[in-house]
Parts: sequence; structure tokens; C-alpha cells
Amino acid sequence: MKKLTISILGIIIIIIISLLFLFLTESGESIRKKLLTSVEVKSNSLEIFSWWTAGGESEGLKELFKQFKKTNPGVEVVNATIVGGSGTKAQTVLYTRMKSDTPPDSFQVLAGPEFIETWVETGFLEPLTFLYEKNNWLKLFSRDVLNRITHDGEIYAVPLNIHRGNLIWYNLSIFRKYDLSPPETMEDLFNIAEILAENGITPLALGDKNIWPALGIFENTVISHLGPDGYSSLWENPDLWETDKLTFILKDFLKIIEYTNSDHAALTWDESVQYVIDGKCAMISIGDFAEGYFRSEGFMPEKNFQWFPYPGTKGIFSLISDVFTLPENAVNRENALQWLNLIGSKEGQDIFNPIKGSLSPRLDSDITMYHGYLQYSKKSYSSDKIVGSFTHGAEINDHWKMQISEIIHKLMIDNNIQKAIIQLQNAAADQLSLQ
Ligand code: GAL
Repeated sequence: MKKLTISILGIIIIIIISLLFLFLTESGESIRKKLLTSVEVKSNSLEIFSWWTAGGESEGLKELFKQFKKTNPGVEVVNATIVGGSGTKAQTVLYTRMKSDTPPDSFQVLAGPEFIETWVETGFLEPLTFLYEKNNWLKLFSRDVLNRITHDGEIYAVPLNIHRGNLIWYNLSIFRKYDLSPPETMEDLFNIAEILAENGITPLALGDKNIWPALGIFENTVISHLGPDGYSSLWENPDLWETDKLTFILKDFLKIIEYTNSDHAALTWDESVQYVIDGKCAMISIGDFAEGYFRSEGFMPEKNFQWFPYPGTKGIFSLISDVFTLPENAVNRENALQWLNLIGSKEGQDIFNPIKGSLSPRLDSDITMYHGYLQYSKKSYSSDKIVGSFTHGAEINDHWKMQISEIIHKLMIDNNIQKAIIQLQNAAADQLSLQ
């Protein structure tokens, strides 16, 4: 009996040592990958990677998953999310996964040069033009979006939505209480801010724990001062980063930051939107994903909140678009294609966008399905001048964006406008000399 126990123990030890060998050595690593892959293939799943975790965005995504399950009942949907709006955290995790050849089946990304440079030119993705041809989508999507996901004649993603970045949202009861009306110019905005501050209300909410919401304010201030053409040509000509203009822009930017909540560096974007709901702050300058968040909290348009274009940017639509991809070597490729078919369909888009607070990029989407704010947004999209939001990847590559982001972040700490101007000018010269 004792001998038998000893030999069973011996066998167990040998198995454990072999498994350890498999998992720790290099050849073991590839065997492990194969094992994991075959498990995933068998499990028939669909892993969707995004940063949609806040109110509005997460609900919209879940509705899409429900719809997907209706037509693909045997498929398990894995909702792989990384917290941190605008994908700031998600991109890092995603990059590691793509580099180690363990991609999700489809991932969210922002349309624009950032997407092309980071994911397309590097060969991480399958082209999807064939899907557009099969579904007759080529003439059905907005050109402003398609142009931002096309490279060398191939389309590399399916767009799900269009957001607008240049808006200010406000708490209606605070505005009514102090008899305020929406400002048209920066000067009007500062006058309103002064009245609110005198009455002990923080005028503007900000949650820049992940920095990009502050960058969004800088972006809007640039658009306001330079207009759509001036803003767009900044990304083409380093000489247009003129000292005088930048001085005005950065002064206004810092003035706005002075009117924000003192704990802004500790809050995420959605926590700062919550400050407007709670009446701790009167307004917030952020994209219209705030609209989806407000409604998810039962804070309703025209009853509890309203909006206006960022002062000086009326007639301009700053575009942000979330798109989904098909990575090379996606384990569940067929399921990923079904997912892309759904999100590109009229049906899928009309389910998702009214919840999310965004427009459908499809030209045939049913606008009657969309409520008040989105009807307003649709009008603006159809008639306004469109620019790309650089904060959200639609205008420049990631490296340049990160440079600007760091400069603006430091400026908020040291208030040194002259230094920031030189750094911005140098970054533009560096980037444009590389192109
Ligand atoms: C943006 C994205 C929006 C929204 C926001 C906050 O980058 O386009 O859909 O999710 O981040 O998460």
C-alpha cells in the first residue's frame, strides 16, 4: 500500500514538473499558446475590446451584444473593457496584446491618422473593403469617416458612430436660477463664469485624471480662435503656430481652467459630468458622450440639461468616430465578421446610437429614431464645417498628440505660456519635417 502511494505520488510529481516545463520554457510557451487557442476556438466566443465602461456607452454596447446574441445564440460574447475614456489606458493594453499575437476578435479605436499609423501601417489588421462590397456599404457611409479609415485604397474598420467634441453642456436649473443665457463668445462665457463664481458655484466641471478632457478644452479654444480652416491648417504648416495667436489661445485656456473644480486632476470624465448633474458645477466642455451619460443617470435633455456650441465654434462640427476592426489572427474570425456586419448595419447603428448620444455614420440612418439632441446634432453634421478632433485621434498621429498633451498638462501646472508656445512650435516643426 505504502509503495503504491509512493509511486502515485512520483507520477504526480513527474506530471507537475513536465507541465511546469511546458509553461516556462520557450517551446512550452508555444505549446501553451496552441492549447489556449484551441480552447478558445472550441468555446465559440467573440471577444470585443473597448473602453466603454461609463453610463450611456456601456448600455449602448450591451444592447448591441443582446442583438448579436439573437442571431448568434451559440456564441459567448466576452466584453473586454479597460476603464479610462478616450482609450488612453486601453491602447496600451491593446498594444501589448497585439504585439504578443493574442488579439481580441475586434477592438474599438478612433478613426483618423492615429488609427492608420498605429494599427494599419504596422500590419496588425485585415482590410475590410470586401465586407463593404458584400454589404453594398461603399456609398452608404459618411465620407468624412471613411476617409479616416482608408489606407492605400483599402478600408480597415467599420464605423459605429459619430460624436461631436465642441460643445458645452449645462445644468438648466442653475442657469435659470441666475437668469443666464448661453454665451456666444469667449467674453460672454467669462462673464457668466464670473456671475456663477460670485454666487459660490463652480462654473465649469473638469475631470482630467486621464488628461484628455483638458486637451479637449484646449482644442476647442484653438478652434474658437482660429476657425475651422485655421485649425485644420495647423496640422499642415508649422509656420501657422504663430506666437501672437497662441498667446491669446493659451491665456483663454488657462482662464477657463481657473474656473474649474479644484479636484479636477482626481476625477475621470464621467465623474466630472456627474458634478453638473449634482449641481456642484454649472457647465462642462466635453464631447456628446456626456449626453448619453446624462440620460443614463435620468438627467434629461431640455428638462435638466441643455447645450450650446463652444463659444466661437458655432457652424463647426468637431468630429470623433468610434470604429471596430478585424485583427490579423483573430481567433474567432467568423464571429468577428458577424459582429462587424451587425455594427455596420442600419439596424445595429439605430439600436446603439440613440443610447450612446452619437449619430450613425450611415447616410440612410433613421433620424426619427433619434431624440432631441441628436436631431440637433444631425442638422449640424449635415450643414456645418467639419474638422477632426485631434484629442480623439481624428487629425494627427498619436506621437504628436501625446507631445501636445504633455505640454498642455505642464502648462496647467506652471502657467508658463512662453515656454509652452516654444514647445508647441517645436513639436509642430519636428512632426511636419518627418512627413
Ligand atoms: C471617446 C469615444 C467616445 C466615448 C469617450 C469616453 O474617445 O469616442 O465614444 O467613449 O471616449 O469614453
